[in-house]
Amino acid sequence: MQASSRILRAAVKRTRPLGARQNHSRPQDPSSSTSTTHFGFRTVPEESKESLVRGVFDSVASSYDVMNDAMSLGVHRLWKDNFISLLRPGSKGPIRVIDVAGGTGDIALRVLDFAREKYADRETSVDVVDINGEMLKEGHRRFKKTMYHDTPQVAFQEANAQAMPEDRFPSNTYDLYTIAFGIRNVTSIKDALKEAHRVLKPGGTFACLEFNKVTNPVLGQIYDQYSFSVIPLLGTILAGDRESYQYLVESIRRFPSQPEFARLISEAGFATGGNFEGDGGAWRDLWGGIACIHMGVKV
Ligand SMILES: C[S@@+](CC[C@H](N)C(=O)[O-])C[C@H]1O[C@@H](n2cnc3c(N)ncnc32)[C@H](O)[C@@H]1O
Repeated sequence: MQASSRILRAAVKRTRPLGARQNHSRPQDPSSSTSTTHFGFRTVPEESKESLVRGVFDSVASSYDVMNDAMSLGVHRLWKDNFISLLRPGSKGPIRVIDVAGGTGDIALRVLDFAREKYADRETSVDVVDINGEMLKEGHRRFKKTMYHDTPQVAFQEANAQAMPEDRFPSNTYDLYTIAFGIRNVTSIKDALKEAHRVLKPGGTFACLEFNKVTNPVLGQIYDQYSFSVIPLLGTILAGDRESYQYLVESIRRFPSQPEFARLISEAGFATGGNFEGDGGAWRDLWGGIACIHMGVKV
């Protein structure tokens, strides 16, 4: 798809006020609906998770980038760089990318920079999709300072990963679907994977970067200590918001293990297993599983 043929949508595109509650236009996967779900370590009615998650990201949006650096001591940048170099956007010519739960546009910026710097590609484009208008606003503000602003290479769209409206996100459209540190926040992972499968072209790649399970017990203990004491404290000091950062830590612990998540990806219709050496074939652990990259190809 030539970027020149795309509608220029560099500004935040929305069909209702930013931050307004999402209206699901399509039914949820009945197999995934239960009456309760988890919100961090709390059990909550399924229908309230979305607004609780929205509240967290409304609250952290303005401090998100600073906090990300502080909490991970900058390591999230290395993981994201690693993620993008594995995907090599632009290596086979310009592609259409959808970055879901894209927040402030960290992944989108890396995709565009990688394609341009390595392959002189100025046609690869990214649709940054997020349920939270405040996060998108931060992203849009950030992109204003880049060469991609006001070009067909980037668009910001407010939508729910679990039910992206078909008129704005037609089936079989994208070559690459990315989701970084986002899928653990959705109410139904199955529904989000189903949507990823729908919007990707046949042969398109699903790629997820997410916090995962640390397998080494010593590293696990150190990591637990750090995340349950230091991160909420940093949230209090730097953002005046302990609860949101406590949620972020707890939500990581509730996310499925690497093999469980790989199984969900495969059940959604993706071929997994051929992408990586080791680690069971479908994923690659980073820093002993603190973070992990899962991939699948739409068949
Ligand atoms: C931890 S941030 C990650 C942002 C960005 N991908 C990054 O790596 O820096 C998680 C993002 O997921 C978004 N999110 C949560 N639930 C979502 C949903 N159901 N659909 C789309 N985005 C969602 C939040 O609004 C937030 O921007």
